[in-house]
Amino acid sequence: MVTLGLIGILLASYVPLVHSLAINPRQVPAAAEGVKTITSPAGVTLRYKEPGKDGICETTSGVNSYSGYIDIAPDVHVFFWFFESRNDPANDPVTLWLNGGPGSDSLIGLFEEIGPCQVVENGTTVLRDHSWTELSNVLFLSQPVGTGFSYSEKGEGYLDPTYLIVDEKPGDETEKEGRWSLFDPTKEDTSRLAAITCWEVLQGFYSNLPQLSASNISSTDFHLWFVHELLYEVDLLIWINDRAESFGGHWGPAFMKYFSEQNDKLAAGTTEGRKLNMRTLGIVNGIVDEQVQTQYQIKYTRGELNGYGIDLVNETMYEYGRTNLDRPDGCQQHLNYCASLDRDSLVRRSQCSAAQFVCQSDVEGIYYTFKTENRGVYDIRYEAGKDVPPDFWRPWLNTGPVQNSLGVDLNYTSANLLYSAFSLSGDFAAGYLSDIDELLKSDIHVALVYGDADYICNWLGGEALSTAAEWSGAETFKSAGYTDIIVGGDAYGEVRQYERLSFSRVWDAGHEVPYWQPSAAFQIFNRTLNRLDIATGKIKLDENSSYKTNGTAKTTHTTTLSPLPAQT
Ligand SMILES: *[C@@H]1O[C@H](CO)[C@@H](O)[C@H](O)[C@H]1NC(C)=O
Ligand SMILES: *[C@@H]1O[C@H](CO)[C@@H](O)[C@H](O)[C@H]1NC(C)=O
Ligand SMILES: *[C@@H]1O[C@H](CO)[C@@H](O)[C@H](O)[C@H]1NC(C)=O
Ligand SMILES: *[C@@H]1O[C@H](CO)[C@@H](O)[C@H](O)[C@H]1NC(C)=O
Ligand SMILES: *[C@@H]1O[C@H](CO)[C@@H](O)[C@H](O)[C@H]1NC(C)=O
Ligand SMILES: *[C@@H]1O[C@H](CO)[C@@H](O)[C@H](O)[C@H]1NC(C)=O
Ligand SMILES: *[C@@H]1O[C@H](CO)[C@@H](O)[C@H](O)[C@H]1NC(C)=O
Repeated sequence: MVTLGLIGILLASYVPLVHSLAINPRQVPAAAEGVKTITSPAGVTLRYKEPGKDGICETTSGVNSYSGYIDIAPDVHVFFWFFESRNDPANDPVTLWLNGGPGSDSLIGLFEEIGPCQVVENGTTVLRDHSWTELSNVLFLSQPVGTGFSYSEKGEGYLDPTYLIVDEKPGDETEKEGRWSLFDPTKEDTSRLAAITCWEVLQGFYSNLPQLSASNISSTDFHLWFVHELLYEVDLLIWINDRAESFGGHWGPAFMKYFSEQNDKLAAGTTEGRKLNMRTLGIVNGIVDEQVQTQYQIKYTRGELNGYGIDLVNETMYEYGRTNLDRPDGCQQHLNYCASLDRDSLVRRSQCSAAQFVCQSDVEGIYYTFKTENRGVYDIRYEAGKDVPPDFWRPWLNTGPVQNSLGVDLNYTSANLLYSAFSLSGDFAAGYLSDIDELLKSDIHVALVYGDADYICNWLGGEALSTAAEWSGAETFKSAGYTDIIVGGDAYGEVRQYERLSFSRVWDAGHEVPYWQPSAAFQIFNRTLNRLDIATGKIKLDENSSYKTNGTAKTTHTTTLSPLPAQT
């Protein structure tokens, strides 16, 4: 090996550096200007800007919005975007909206589903008609740390899209430079651990709220809604290891359960902080419990069951999937074993991740590998790739002016390793239905909402969850019938409801229900928030504890799908 000597080394590195500078100006975001910092009496710092004042997203006059970071520890910086209600911020409740993943960002929900704006093709924001901020203050959080703009540390360079490490040099000419969030995905790899951090983040947020906003937000009512999202970038061909899942179903129950426990401690004076008066838990197309739901992934492939009259795989492959589900040492046995293990035991980690692997490859994956037509995973009405809403907001977030207005100096990425970490911890296959059972003992209303064209977290599994819940009203709930969900005189779906629990099947909607059926989703939210019956929004449930839907034992709606256009 030839020794270059010091000057040689300097020259060798110096020349290409100048060269690359000349053709490639640096693309690392600048520090955001004019970021304000406040610190709560409890010592939590909040750094923020008001993006609406720069014409970003919520531009309705007189309506405040704030975005930035809640710093709860030297290595935990959680991105938030808080929109005040367009209606009556002082007295409207606060809703926390989270997407799943794990590692899917709440900004998916903000831009594609329920936030005050969407980003259109030309890179501007336009207001959304059925923004949930018409009814509530809404907080979006990028969690767990590592999701979206949240970070532990920051690194500058080129993000390697496969291994998600930041390199000094680009792997190929398509890779652009940036500043990226760095974090340890194994630090918080279960829903319960994530719940603890989320509680801290909320406490930090609320303790700063009086300084943040002059709107005198006084309601302590708190609602938690989830759609769980997926990392779209991930190639379905490698889905076994990397596909993200609809995990909001896990967040919801685990978070609300932990928040209830903290509220109890606050009441008993054994911890400090602010009580959140938890009113509703909404789960939209969520995986709450694989043990209950997985079998419906194979059943949903049958046209006579999915409501669309179309077989997604042929009879042979269906039978094959059924066999894989039911055979000794098959998927269901693995899930049952996972469920029987102590939640905190080490063996559970390996057994539950094994169950996830077996079920995803042998049962859920039958559709991915053997589908008769190239239909989507998140919406069987459309072909794969067209089954999700447009995401013009992603490249938009990687532009300097937008980053500056949001108070961030990071590039945006939706790829992270949290999904893998949660799979390895076994959390994915772990069941959280028992947490819902717990919640139903208290005065929390639980709304399960499923768009009926989603394969991955389909409505058959959601319906099974609703009837598997064990609570005082379980028998009456099961005896209730399905009735239509009426909004503005039209039927958008069917609901079964008794007291605190409802299960809604929304017709003609894929995974992200509020995108596909905005007005129906909005009224389901409205009615749940206000404790009205979901079917009509006319009956006050608190004044009518015996409310129960009447109707058929099964939902009856069917839609006929035409074949996909021929592939060219
Ligand atoms: C990172 O953000 C900057 C704007 O601050 C942008 O120029 C650059 O292209 C972004 N990098 C990537 C990889 O998107
Ligand atoms: C961007 O598109 C929106 C909606 O299509 C339109 O209203 C707006 O005028 C366009 N803005 C620019 C700058 O082209
Ligand atoms: C908030 O409350 C204070 C004191 O009650 C009042 O002076 C102020 O006008 C209120 N602000 C808003 C925006 O309602
Ligand atoms: C069913 O699908 C499988 C996998 O695509 C295929 O190999 C098989 O030939 C099909 N069987 C029938 C009866 O069409
Ligand atoms: C919410 O629901 C109630 C009861 O159905 C209705 O009166 C009200 O108009 C709804 N709110 C909005 C903003 O649509
Ligand atoms: C209570 O609910 C039942 C349906 O379960 C309905 O028939 C009745 O009219 C309701 N009563 C009131 C006061 O809303
Ligand atoms: C269901 O039917 C019973 C008996 O006819 C009736 O009393 C009740 O009001 C109905 N409930 C609803 C929600 O319509």
